[in-house]
Amino acid sequence: MNVPYLINFSSIGTDSIGFLTVAQSPEVPFTIKRAYWTYNTPSNQIRGFHAHRELHQLIFSITGEIEFYTEDIFGNKNIFKLDQPNIGLYIPPMVWREIKFGINSTLLCLASFEYFETDYIRNYEDFKKLIKKND
Ligand code: TYD
Repeated sequence: MNVPYLINFSSIGTDSIGFLTVAQSPEVPFTIKRAYWTYNTPSNQIRGFHAHRELHQLIFSITGEIEFYTEDIFGNKNIFKLDQPNIGLYIPPMVWREIKFGINSTLLCLASFEYFETDYIRNYEDFKKLIKKND
């Protein structure tokens, strides 16, 4: 699928001992080659402002609340609220995103390949030109 969507992963455990969640094949729709996380992001800070040409990502808010404002290859705009550590947002290639961080939020990203700056589209007008080809 070319559009972002939420994936609900199992929470394993109990209230008394706590919980764990695992992200693995086949629920994760790509092979994971990189993980990174952000932390100490000031509350209400907005980051992102880019799309990726080929990268697939699965993103969790491990703590706190994170909002994703997305625009996909078809021009659909969506807001995804991540506020549970077992719910991941799958983002396929060519999705513009702006990300608003809540208090003490920690974003974990699992990605399909290593960091290449050349995979980024950081200019919104460039992104709009590229997706127009899908009209
Ligand atoms: P970026 O992806 O632009 O983060 P955000 O959109 O949240 O602001 O990355 C911020 C900086 O970190 C940028 O200079 C590139 C660098 N970076 C790496 O060196 N390796 C990575 O895997 C990632 C994700 C970023």
